[in-house]
Amino acid sequence: MENAQKVISELMANPINVGLLGLIVFLVYKIVRGRRPPVGLAPDPPLAKLKKQDFTLEQLREFDGTGAEGRVLLAVNGRVFDVTRGKNFYGPNGPYSVFAGRDASRGLAMFSVSEDVIREEYDDLQDLDSEQMERVREWEQQLSEKYDHVGKLLRPGEQATDYEVEEETTAAPDSTKSD
Ligand code: HEM
Repeated sequence: MENAQKVISELMANPINVGLLGLIVFLVYKIVRGRRPPVGLAPDPPLAKLKKQDFTLEQLREFDGTGAEGRVLLAVNGRVFDVTRGKNFYGPNGPYSVFAGRDASRGLAMFSVSEDVIREEYDDLQDLDSEQMERVREWEQQLSEKYDHVGKLLRPGEQATDYEVEEETTAAPDSTKSD
């Protein structure tokens, strides 16, 4: 009992601990509150799947959940995911809304939901160390298991892939064949 009190007072003596504890309480509150279905309202019907396409950083910004459709996209490690299903996390007022319509890689690498961590310009992540890059790849893997992959996040000057042409050339039936 005395020990527990000692641990608590030591924890509270350090302002970083108090700050982290505050962050934990805040995020848990946001997650728990976000899970409750709104009283008297049916959940929104799922949106139509987006056709495969690439995005510039500016184009991605449009999809922060505040648009008419309410769609939310985010990028991790150069891949864009449709995380609308996770709107409780990423939508306006969600605990991770800072990632909506953005490249979330650096925030995820640094385990930070601070607005300041995410860069306004294209982020090539070159300065991240191997541990941080590993974390980015783990998040990429985790999100890819849960959400639809829409396309690539384009580097400045990079051309968008024409996925329709790509699909036609790879998936079109052989028109020379007759049966
Ligand atoms: C410090 C206290 C934190 C707590 C207690 C916490 C708690 C949680 C919980 C419980 C979930 C799973 C919710 C579910 O699947 O139902 C979750 C998911 C998640 N957390 Fe945190 N989290 C914290 C910090 C952070 C930070 C700092 C970041 C940013 C890097 C972060 C990013 C995420 C992401 C991206 C998800 C996945 C959401 C999804 O499935 O789309 N968390 N968190």
